[in-house]
Amino acid sequence: MTIQKIATNHLSRVSLRDGQSMPWLGLGVWETPEAQTADVVRQAVKLGYQAVDTARLYKNEAGVGEGLAEHPNIFVTTKLWNDDQGYDSTLRAFEKSARLLKRDVVDLYLIHWPMPRQGQYVESWKALIHLQKEGRIRSIGVSNFEEEHLVHLMDETGVVPVINQIELHPYFQQRSLRAFHAKHRIQTEAWRPLGKGVILGNSLIQTIAQKYKRSSAQVILRWHLQNEIVVIPKSVNPERLAQNLDIFDFTLSREDMEAIATLDRSDGRMGEDPQTVTFK
Ligand SMILES: NC(=O)c1ccc[n+]([C@@H]2O[C@H](COP(=O)([O-])OP(=O)(O)OC[C@H]3O[C@@H](n4cnc5c(N)ncnc54)[C@H](OP(=O)(O)O)[C@@H]3O)[C@@H](O)[C@H]2O)c1
Repeated sequence: MTIQKIATNHLSRVSLRDGQSMPWLGLGVWETPEAQTADVVRQAVKLGYQAVDTARLYKNEAGVGEGLAEHPNIFVTTKLWNDDQGYDSTLRAFEKSARLLKRDVVDLYLIHWPMPRQGQYVESWKALIHLQKEGRIRSIGVSNFEEEHLVHLMDETGVVPVINQIELHPYFQQRSLRAFHAKHRIQTEAWRPLGKGVILGNSLIQTIAQKYKRSSAQVILRWHLQNEIVVIPKSVNPERLAQNLDIFDFTLSREDMEAIATLDRSDGRMGEDPQTVTFK
């Protein structure tokens, strides 16, 4: 089945390998100041957003919880930070995040980075498996994991993450990792889907945008959806929030999809490299 048939409007959801489902598009809140977060989240929900992506690192889980207090059905993702890795510390970190989010049950909890040199992501994963069994997390996944980290997790525990949230945009398309995900039914989710705005001025994207009478951001987000990638664009601006949600009623042609595929660059990564990242 094609994405055009699956994601027909902003309420469409993608099925996950554990039997749960999640919205194709959510609001990212990295760098959204804590004091502003509840308002931005409320505004997004009013516009129709069905999901919010936060993390302990972003220091705005309380704002997300406040913004969603009246909306218990909006899908929430949060993440385990690197210095909380390890079995017991993961359990404690989860409790803190759940309390700040004002949720007894969190929809999706991710290990934020594998931190392979720390050597604790398998123990952390076991804690996520336990929390899911206890009914505290609906779905468990990872972020910034490369193929070897995914293989190691699966070999050690037999439990496959439902999702891997990775840096992904037209300049950094992660084809090999996406093929691995497809093979194991791991859903791909793109962080920095707009390349933090850098790609919006690309001349090919702008030409395609003019053709469809859409913005560059809408073309890029639509490109993700048609590649069956979940997106979590960040904005604090009401017009851009609305624009980023309004991507379910047009379809990029195969030629335009292929043209955008040519923008992939060997030096396209903008964020940290999971193999060498050292921040805590
Ligand atoms: N797992 C991880 O390690 C990881 C890492 C980074 C990010 N993330 C997640 O991914 C989310 C998105 O990534 P991101 O915030 O790095 O980058 P992004 O969503 O690609 O881009 C956000 C930037 O683009 C601007 N923007 C948004 N919509 C726009 C539009 N329609 N037109 C023009 N400019 C627009 C925003 O500014 P305004 O706010 O002013 O509109 C902001 O500066 C984060 O918020 C976070 O939830 C996860």
